[in-house]
Amino acid sequence: MGLTTEEILQISLDLVGWDETPADSTVYVPGEDIETALVGIDLESPEIKLAHDEGYDLALAHHPTGMSARLDFPAVLDKQVEFMTDHGVPEDVAEDAVADLKSRMDHGGHSSNYRHDPSVAELLDQPYLNTHLAPDEYGRRVFRDVADEMGADATAGDFVDALAEIPELDAAETDVLLRVGDPDNDLGEVAVHHAAGTNGGASVARAYFDHGVDTVLYIHVGAGDTADLRAEFANEDKNLVVTGHIASDAIGMNAVVDALEDHGVECTTISGCGIGRDD
Ligand SMILES: [Fe+2]
Ligand SMILES: [Fe+2]
Repeated sequence: MGLTTEEILQISLDLVGWDETPADSTVYVPGEDIETALVGIDLESPEIKLAHDEGYDLALAHHPTGMSARLDFPAVLDKQVEFMTDHGVPEDVAEDAVADLKSRMDHGGHSSNYRHDPSVAELLDQPYLNTHLAPDEYGRRVFRDVADEMGADATAGDFVDALAEIPELDAAETDVLLRVGDPDNDLGEVAVHHAAGTNGGASVARAYFDHGVDTVLYIHVGAGDTADLRAEFANEDKNLVVTGHIASDAIGMNAVVDALEDHGVECTTISGCGIGRDD
C-alpha cells in the first residue's frame, strides 16, 4: 500500500507543521500507490525520463519547474518582507528592498515555458511533484538553531565554523564562506534569510545592515551583490555568510527523504539530494 502524490507533498509540509501548500510547490502529475521515488534538487525532463526508464513510482524535485509553482512563485517572496520586519526593518523599507526581485521573478515566470518539464512527465504518465518552501523552512530552522547557540562574544568566523559542522555542509564540496566581512568581526545580531523563495540580493542585506542587523545568512548570493555590499559595508563590521546552495537545499530534502522512508517509500537520491545523509 503505497502513498499518493498528495500524501507525499503533505509529508513534506508536516516537517514544518504547515497545512497549506506554498505557491512554489505543486503536483505536476498525480499518482497513487507510490512505493519508490527518485529524489533530487533539480529533476527536469532528462531526470523525469530517467525515473520513468528505471521504474520509479515518483520523480520528486526540490526546485519548481513549471505550472503554478513557477507562475505563482512571486507570492512566496512575501516571506522576505516578514523576515526583515521580524528584525526591525520598517515594512515600507522591506517592501522596497524586495520590489525589484519580485518584478524579476514575475517577469521570469511569465516568459518561461511553464509547460516544458511538466508536459514531458504527462506524456510519460510519470508521477512528478516538487516541494520547495517547506524543506527550505526546515533548513532555515536548523540554521536559526546554530545562530541561537552562539555565545554573546562570538565572531563571524565562529559562526562559519559552527555552520560547517552541519552534516550536509560538512560533507559538501562547497565551503561556508564570508562573502562580506572578516572572521574577527563580532557576530552580533544574525538574520537567517532563507526559505523565502531565493536570496534577497544586495538590497535586502542592505536593509538589514541599515537597521541594526550585523550578520546576514544567505545560502547563495551573486557576484554583483557581493561587490556592492563590500564597497558599502566592509568597513562597518557587517557580515554576509553564504552556506552553499545545494548543500543547504539538501538539509531540508534529506529530511523529506527520511520522512518518506519512515512511511515505507524507498528513495534514491540524485542531483545534490543525499549530501551528508547517513542511510
Ligand atoms: Fe531550497
Ligand atoms: Fe535552491
